[in-house]
Amino acid sequence: MRDGTFLHFRSAGASLALDCTGSGLPRVVHWGEDLGELSPATLAAVVRAGRPQIATNNVDVVVPLAVLPEHSAGWQGTPGLTGHRAGADFSTAFAVTSIEQHGQAVEVTAEDVGAGLELRLEIELTDAGLVRQRATVTNQAEADAAPFALSGVLLTLPVPERATELLDMTGRHLRERSPQRHVFTIGTHLRENRRGRTGTDAVTVHVAGEPGFGFRSGEVWGLHVAWSGNHRSLAERTINGVGLLGGGELLLAGEVVLGAGESYVSPWVYGSYGRTGLDELAGRFHGHLRARPGHPRSPRPVTLNVWEAVYFDHDLGKLTRLADLAAGIGTERFVLDDGWFRGRRDDHAGLGDWYVDETVWPDGLNPLVDHVRGLGMEFGLWVEPEMVNPNSDLAREHPEWILATGDRMPPESRHQQVLDLGHPEAYAYILERLDAIVSEYALTYLKWDHNRDLVEAGHSPTGRAGVRAQTLAVYRLLDELRSRHPRLEIESCSSGGGRIDLEILERTDRVWTSDCIDALERQQIQRWTGLLLPPELLGCHVGAHAAHTTGRVHTLGFRAGTALFGHFGMEWDLTQATEEDLAALTGWIERYKDLRPLLHGGTVVTGDHPDPALWVRGVVAPDRSRAVYTLAQVATSVQSPPGRVALPGLDPAAEYRVSPLAPGDEVRGPASDRLAWWTDGGVTLPGRVLGSIGVRAPSQHPERLVLLSVERV
Ligand code: DGJ
Repeated sequence: MRDGTFLHFRSAGASLALDCTGSGLPRVVHWGEDLGELSPATLAAVVRAGRPQIATNNVDVVVPLAVLPEHSAGWQGTPGLTGHRAGADFSTAFAVTSIEQHGQAVEVTAEDVGAGLELRLEIELTDAGLVRQRATVTNQAEADAAPFALSGVLLTLPVPERATELLDMTGRHLRERSPQRHVFTIGTHLRENRRGRTGTDAVTVHVAGEPGFGFRSGEVWGLHVAWSGNHRSLAERTINGVGLLGGGELLLAGEVVLGAGESYVSPWVYGSYGRTGLDELAGRFHGHLRARPGHPRSPRPVTLNVWEAVYFDHDLGKLTRLADLAAGIGTERFVLDDGWFRGRRDDHAGLGDWYVDETVWPDGLNPLVDHVRGLGMEFGLWVEPEMVNPNSDLAREHPEWILATGDRMPPESRHQQVLDLGHPEAYAYILERLDAIVSEYALTYLKWDHNRDLVEAGHSPTGRAGVRAQTLAVYRLLDELRSRHPRLEIESCSSGGGRIDLEILERTDRVWTSDCIDALERQQIQRWTGLLLPPELLGCHVGAHAAHTTGRVHTLGFRAGTALFGHFGMEWDLTQATEEDLAALTGWIERYKDLRPLLHGGTVVTGDHPDPALWVRGVVAPDRSRAVYTLAQVATSVQSPPGRVALPGLDPAAEYRVSPLAPGDEVRGPASDRLAWWTDGGVTLPGRVLGSIGVRAPSQHPERLVLLSVERV
């Protein structure tokens, strides 16, 4: 198929219409609400109806916004492809040579004969209504021509004029995914990442929407760059009224130089749309992830990770006591964190020496592994394969395996450097070590950490920038290990939530959402990480009474009720927990086990409650027969008693019984006496009423929460 067609893909209430007429690169006619069946003639009319006049002092042609915009077409915003061949061919003019449609996907090939480049664009609308695109650039010039130095590929999606507000995330260690909102003015809101990992400050989803959009209202368009290395994401509005979201990998100088016949494949760039707010936009990402054949479907096991219980202080007696207590309350997976390998008595040494420390573990890990398995729990282990401490045998033997530029070393971070996995021998060593450990202990779970940004990540001996090679090598390493050990699950951790993106999720089974397990902080971190990931992929643990990272003290109800809306676990020295704590925790674990099919398969809903102190979050079963909600009091409210709270996402036509669900925090004293429906044990109302007027919220102290069960009657 070639020349001249419009394509219209539709799924799950979203549609993507492409103008592939003429020889120019495809243009998005429409991305957003499903417009129903549209014939090519109608789409041509849509284009014509939107065709702008030529403004004064502009080029004398209508400038298209192609999915990869080109300067040669008159585009003066951020260009789609940048690079050069010995200084020439800085601007491309691709002409389409073939268009192949496969269901809801299209592959467009184009050539710029003069520049000696071929471009292949893959664009599709997934069953969940997500758009995704990627580009492959190939140097087609003769072997004796200069190579093509590629500086960047940016893929775009248009957003309409009415999207006047932007939302993106920033963050830091212990406070990932802090939202920031601002007006979408003319210019470029550019977020660049040069950390060599997705980043604790990652944008995650760059959203443009109607003013005041929320979780349940306002039209929104969001973009996610699925890449775990350097990347960029931007929202741009031109003086000509064009608005777009765009993204791609951020390439360092000289990082990609294409010799004859060589290709560069960009990351997938995803676009998600919500007609009625962020929940719908998030739901498409969740639906897409859940549709993967490899999506973790097993009941997600209750996990005890021992990091905050013992840190580096590994003692078999203490760890077996922890295992006993954990098994006694219903734990299903026990994870031994950092500190088990040679020389790792603190965070100054040992990374790279992936052999069990004989001084701490004279009989290997077997005594603990056997004990844990004997209790009926799965055993998991922490690793940080991409890192090396200068104080390690590995660094002493192979200083040339460290990512560095020339003779100088990058500044250390957490006393560590980054191992150059682009170096074949370093890669082979790490693969062999991981394979050996996984095999020796028949491991089914690895917590895979990555605790520093890449700084001056040069590859020796060439001295070339090595972030892309490193990112691809990590993907290869994960893929190889998983193919050798098909039952192995891997958790993506990076100083907490520093490596959360859809490409790492192609080869990992959950993320460690944050090193901060203070439940109040977690309320916001989990809410915003949920824009991309469904609850079953979010590692959420109950910590000690006083959070180690903030010192805040919370009730068990607030801590456990917050962890419930994810992949539930604990990170608490259970030997310090009282009998009462353990009994309460047992109740929470039972509740989690009972709810996990719903929590890990249902639709996540978030209330746009007018009181910023009261957060409403729920999960509704796909058939809307049941749901569970939390009402979390994240601060004191201005008003008292609280107002009514809507429970979104239910079937408007069905009748539901809403009732308090144990365990949960106590409702505040005398007010509870007056909360009639609560003391009655529940109320029956139509979904339409619950979703709009709702029910009166119980009065709670700050940093408490209650659970509500909702069942169709
Ligand atoms: C950072 C992780 O995020 C923590 O959970 C823990 O595994 C430490 N690293 C161990 O060094």
